[in-house]
Amino acid sequence: MPKPFADARSIYHVIEPALWAPSVFNSQPWSFRITTDDRIELRANVSDNAGARRGRWDLLLHTPAPGPWAREYAIGCGAALMNLRLAIRMLGHDPVIALVPAPGSDPGLLASVEIVAGRTHEPKELEKELYEAIRQRHTDRRPFSAAPVHPGVLVEIERAAAREDGWLRVLHGPYARRWLKASAGADAAIAVAGRGTAPAAGDSWGLAGGDGRDTAADATVIAAADDAAASGCLSYDALLHQFRDELTQWTGHTEDGCGVPLTASGPRPARANAPVRDFSLGAADSGSGSGAADSGIGSGADNWSARARARRHAQRERFERHPQLMMLFTDRDDPADWLRAGQALQRALLTATSLGVSASFLTQPLELADLAFRYDPQYGRLHHGPLPHHANWQQDSRNAVDRRGYVRRRILGSTPWLEVPQMVIRVGYPKVSAGQPDIRTPRQEPEVIDVRCVPAQRVIRPPEPQPPEASRPGRTDHRLTAH
Ligand SMILES: Cc1cc2nc3c(=O)[nH]c(=O)nc-3n(C[C@H](O)[C@H](O)[C@H](O)COP(=O)(O)O)c2cc1C
Repeated sequence: MPKPFADARSIYHVIEPALWAPSVFNSQPWSFRITTDDRIELRANVSDNAGARRGRWDLLLHTPAPGPWAREYAIGCGAALMNLRLAIRMLGHDPVIALVPAPGSDPGLLASVEIVAGRTHEPKELEKELYEAIRQRHTDRRPFSAAPVHPGVLVEIERAAAREDGWLRVLHGPYARRWLKASAGADAAIAVAGRGTAPAAGDSWGLAGGDGRDTAADATVIAAADDAAASGCLSYDALLHQFRDELTQWTGHTEDGCGVPLTASGPRPARANAPVRDFSLGAADSGSGSGAADSGIGSGADNWSARARARRHAQRERFERHPQLMMLFTDRDDPADWLRAGQALQRALLTATSLGVSASFLTQPLELADLAFRYDPQYGRLHHGPLPHHANWQQDSRNAVDRRGYVRRRILGSTPWLEVPQMVIRVGYPKVSAGQPDIRTPRQEPEVIDVRCVPAQRVIRPPEPQPPEASRPGRTDHRLTAH
């Protein structure tokens, strides 16, 4: 069996699969450091790498910046870690993982992967299947077939997550409908943010419901917004505005190999409360649909000519009538839990892929919950004190970690879930139709540092091995054709 970190080629052989993990807005917030012949670190991508957009690891790094990204970044890194583990197993080695997010001592360090020396064994069939699925998996934001995913398959996906300490549960009927509504409401809230027209934070989530009664989640977020305003920080709307600005940086343009390209963002949904995110932030929807679209305020909406709108609407597609949503929970909500969530998510996604099931994500309401609890840069604690609006709050908020998770736990109702929600995925069988555009999302060159050399060196991706002369396409073998 080859040595994992002998040279650039063997290093990239292990790292390459990790790069194909999902990450929020394709931000690829990871980097790698080889520390010994049998140890590699997974790190946050926080260096000022020429050409690469920096991840905003606010929560871990204690820097003043808006956004809920740190948690989602960590989830993406957890997914990359899962792929890294599989890549090492494919070489016959056993990886020993230590989840060590250590904001205090080494802010960039997330996990250390040690390779057990002197012992190799063949990868199992399951490991091979998951490894195969790494390059096949991608986020599929197109409509799925109306046929529901077989319950046995859903159980397999749930079990895959459970192997990594992630609890994946199907959101049934009313919960699924409310999540779709909450997601559309979050999209609309983000689209109108900073325009002086944003509704109260709770309403903007679409969670208040047709009966006009605010849910506990609404009240929690409104309370958080009030607290932020009272403590002299930015208003909730201003935070949302910053969040929106950052979001626009990640969507549409992918020249440097990160961000979500328009080709991957899927068709415009025909109905409101669609099971996919609105990456246009309302711009493409003006004139019909939901949220920002209805208000006509969506960014750039005014620039759309009537003809362009009509053409866009003609391209709308119907999504499955009953989207199948699954929510991923963890026991707690500290950075190690986020890395666990990422590994569980990736094992579940790879299992789904290997069973012919596609997946996309619907995480906006969780992001807005995080946003309401932005970080205190000086003390590493939340801005908000205990929220007086809830009787249960005091006993439930032992520390900042619990408080942050608590808002997400209450998102869909007054009875909090026992565990902390981290992600929501939509699963389904892909519709097969010919001539569909390539929806692969690009990747950027990762930062890989080898600290075994003095001084430490960046490991450059080696050129692809050239096929042997005779088999290169377009070359005529004159020895065969001359006579
Ligand atoms: C934590 C996390 C949150 C995400 N949230 C969303 C989302 O709300 N909507 C969406 O369409 N995709 C979401 N994604 C998917 C990413 O946009 C996607 O992984 C990235 O663009 C790379 O594309 P790929 O998954 O096809 O390789 C999320 C991914 C992660 C890891």
